[in-house]
Amino acid sequence: MKLSERILTLLSENPDGYTSGNEIAERLAVSRNAVWKAVEKLRSDGYEIDAITNKGYRIHHEPDRISAGAVMKLLPQTETPFRVTVVESISSTNDALRLRAEEGAPEGTILIAESQTSGRGRLNRSFYSPKNSGIYLSALLRPTIPAPEALSITTAAAVAAAEAIESCCGADTKIKWVNDIFANGKKIAGILTEAAINLENGRLDYAVLGIGINIFDPEDGWPAELTGIAGGALSVCPADRRGLRSRVAGTFLNLFWRYYRDLGGKPFLNAYRARSLVLGREIIVDDGVSRRRATALAIDEEFRLIVRFDGESRETALSTGEVSVRIV
Ligand code: BTN
Repeated sequence: MKLSERILTLLSENPDGYTSGNEIAERLAVSRNAVWKAVEKLRSDGYEIDAITNKGYRIHHEPDRISAGAVMKLLPQTETPFRVTVVESISSTNDALRLRAEEGAPEGTILIAESQTSGRGRLNRSFYSPKNSGIYLSALLRPTIPAPEALSITTAAAVAAAEAIESCCGADTKIKWVNDIFANGKKIAGILTEAAINLENGRLDYAVLGIGINIFDPEDGWPAELTGIAGGALSVCPADRRGLRSRVAGTFLNLFWRYYRDLGGKPFLNAYRARSLVLGREIIVDDGVSRRRATALAIDEEFRLIVRFDGESRETALSTGEVSVRIV
């Protein structure tokens, strides 16, 4: 955790009183000058921090930022040493974490951004990532699974996200095969899992799980092309929204990690089916070349969507690949 984040955690333990610069420096084993610089950085990020000579520092006003400390508190006790970093703005957390993965960063490295300038989605789409609205999170995984099983990471994440959003925001969440979460009839989250495959053994070298969750509608509204399609998990913004995004992020990671530790056992498969938005519905299957109408019948053990195309009697199993589905 960055020094400024550790100082915030420390100051928030004493919200009504002042904590002296000396005490902060001693407890965090840094110089007083380093404390002063970190406090200045926090101020430039929008924190109002009172400082009184001989008394110390106190948080006066805290912007509603995602806090690495608050996320860390919700993470499960595992052998994985999580490292959570929150940044104000980045091009794409997936891109940044893939670079870190190539440099050898360990499993459990988590990067969260308040906003992204080039957020990416599946099928080369962009993912709108404005500030003060969502959670843009990537997690570095080093699973020992064969490459074809990588889809189970996305499905585990979809179930964890649907459950986390439901428990923290009260939204009734559904999963649209394969990677989209819906609530109130709108897309509120999307998942993009990217992996590097070791060609010698056919296993994954690493995977970067990226998820974007819209919690609040953007301050400036949705761009025209997303209006009516994307939405915030909260249809009504609560008066006290403080800390909500940290809670959703931490709860999501906690649930995801439980599933991730037992990927092969697929403990999330039934929940994935039960939350499906497409099962039993008429859909359009788009493979990038043609669009065909079908009925979505089932999700099999490999998370493939079993459909019957109109005019055909046999069933077809769709793998995620380049296929996308739309509900009619
Ligand atoms: C989709 O809707 O197709 C997937 C969207 C995935 C967006 C997340 S936000 C965090 C991470 N960084 C990215 O650039 N993309 C993913």
